[in-house]
Amino acid sequence: MSIVSCVATVAVPAAAPRFAGLRRVAGPAALNCDVEQPSAVSLQVSGRASSKASRRCVATMAGTGRFVVGGNWKCNGNTASIQKLVQDLNAGEITADVEVICAPPMVYLPRVQSTLDRKYALSAQNCWVGEGGAYTGEVAAEMLVDNNIPWVILGHSERRALIGESDEFIGQKCAYAISKGLSVMACIGETLEERERGDTLNVCRRQLQAIVNAISPADWEKVVIAYEPVWAIGTGKVATPAEAQETHAGIRAYMAEAVSASVASAVRIQYGGSVNAGNCEELARCEDIDGFLVGGASLDGGAFVTICNSARFNN
Ligand code: PGA
Repeated sequence: MSIVSCVATVAVPAAAPRFAGLRRVAGPAALNCDVEQPSAVSLQVSGRASSKASRRCVATMAGTGRFVVGGNWKCNGNTASIQKLVQDLNAGEITADVEVICAPPMVYLPRVQSTLDRKYALSAQNCWVGEGGAYTGEVAAEMLVDNNIPWVILGHSERRALIGESDEFIGQKCAYAISKGLSVMACIGETLEERERGDTLNVCRRQLQAIVNAISPADWEKVVIAYEPVWAIGTGKVATPAEAQETHAGIRAYMAEAVSASVASAVRIQYGGSVNAGNCEELARCEDIDGFLVGGASLDGGAFVTICNSARFNN
């Protein structure tokens, strides 16, 4: 039996992860790991617990894509607080290892665009499913492109739950946004009830399937998947690194099955849900976590900068 065990900061839970990562097979030196039988390392190892309780079993690691952190400001802020946030972000030093994208409320986007340092890219929090027209209150993908906004967040659980956006609708939104040249942070994730039923990966697969059905394999270059368990969003209840890693690896395995091994390997998967300056490091160390989508803590410039710089631990 081949086991590559990697020093982790977390204890292995009773139920070991069902999937290992699919990013790329790395040699023991790159992994900084103890290798029991390196010659037999395979791309997928499932349900394999490390013999050492404090170590987590991995056969592969993340690392092909640049760590990517999004700050989802949601429907928060006013002129004064946003000015302060921009000042704090501009003063922060951001490691070159990370791509950072800030998503202010739509009405503040132009102001933020003219004041926020270029080390941060900008995103909208939503856009319409098709061409603009008689859609009161909506914003079209073309309008974002026209305003040099390169990113959009789609499928956030708040929009799924509060606005009633369906999986298919979100898939179509992704397709349209990408067709206009936008990059998408596409959010997926299960509710507490679904997790307790053991349906976490079924829900993620179903939500991803709608996107897979709507876009081409090549379009995945323009997509970052944001895995955000609904029960962890804004609750202060963060998924443990082991829980997050297990689901991220399951998502990557699904992408290999539903699209291709190369897309599964290249696609970046953010974790979102109560990420803060205190828990980002151990989450960033997980091999299938390629970044974060941050809500509450993105409203605090100092905390957000710390979270962005946790990219240093993702190697
Ligand atoms: P949170 O939100 O960090 O406040 O939990 C994350 C999100 O909804 O993107």
